[in-house]
Amino acid sequence: MNQIEPIDGNGFGHLTVLLHEAAASLNLVPGSIAIDCTLGGGGHTRLLLNAVGKNGKVFAFDRDSTAIDHAQKTFAAEVASGQLLLVHKPFSEMADHVRKAGLAAAISGVLADLGVSSPQLDIGERGFSFLKDGPLDMRMDPSRPGTAADLVNTAEEAELARIFRDFGEEPMARHFAKMICRQRATEPFTTTLQLASYLEKHSPYGSKSRKHPATKIFQAIRIAVNEELDELNRFLAGAVPLLAPKGRLSVITFHSLEDRAVKHFFAEASGKTKRQELSRRVVLTESEMDKMVNAQGRVVATSEAEPSAEEIEINPRARSARLRVFERA
Ligand SMILES: C[S@@+](CC[C@H](N)C(=O)[O-])C[C@H]1O[C@@H](n2cnc3c(N)ncnc32)[C@H](O)[C@@H]1O
Repeated sequence: MNQIEPIDGNGFGHLTVLLHEAAASLNLVPGSIAIDCTLGGGGHTRLLLNAVGKNGKVFAFDRDSTAIDHAQKTFAAEVASGQLLLVHKPFSEMADHVRKAGLAAAISGVLADLGVSSPQLDIGERGFSFLKDGPLDMRMDPSRPGTAADLVNTAEEAELARIFRDFGEEPMARHFAKMICRQRATEPFTTTLQLASYLEKHSPYGSKSRKHPATKIFQAIRIAVNEELDELNRFLAGAVPLLAPKGRLSVITFHSLEDRAVKHFFAEASGKTKRQELSRRVVLTESEMDKMVNAQGRVVATSEAEPSAEEIEINPRARSARLRVFERA
């Protein structure tokens, strides 16, 4: 299980995080149907295909057409045989799509490996990185409107401050919002390095800060541009009813906002939240409690919820990853 792919095996440029751990957490059997909601370079998809076998099926979603185009080539045989169905859609629309295919409550495993792929970060033209020059874009799906530049140059100062605070957990959110609004009145922001160097120049943290001052602001803008937390909440709510009994939903998160949302959702869906609330107010037997709580499933404890030190050394982007697993009753 601790086997790590030393290099990206499929030429996409993305090292899959928790590759074997996440795929194994779904407990898939041959002939079953699984969904990979975040295809990326297809590392997890490949293992899901292996697990469901020739008589099974995998749906793979991505809102980035470059991931879909890449998979059309790398998985040409599986696509041709109908074993793999590629879907260019945001995962918030996954449940609708699968229901329309007549497969509600028939899915054995759903996986989401959140966040961005390495090519999205590494290719300057995508506009995600404050270390590479490119247009200030950050859209995972460039066919949709609303770039990072549109947001930075047009949002009200209070809205920018809210975004920096809520999505970047930036304590100096109001300061950075004010600085940006002052500057854009004379010169709009159009490139990543223009914004990054402006934030650095006007950072109240000085040169003592270990992190680049653009780190949290870029994260916040990216989350806002791609509506990542809305996407996640809609995805989670839609995923559970798709699962067959004992079907599993596994999610890999990369920062505390995502992780909190998943943890909170699993606590609600497993009845933990309601159980705690009820036990504060009334005394009930276990079976009375079970009836009142009416849980949709349980949280699965996993000993491989975080990447090993070895994986982090090979792939530093794995360091903040965390796997959470839910099983349908
Ligand atoms: C971390 S990468 C996934 C890597 C993949 N597991 C692999 O093994 O290569 C995340 C991928 O999810 C996609 N993505 C992120 N949010 C999405 C959303 N809301 N809907 C659909 N795809 C999304 C990104 O475009 C990106 O390709």
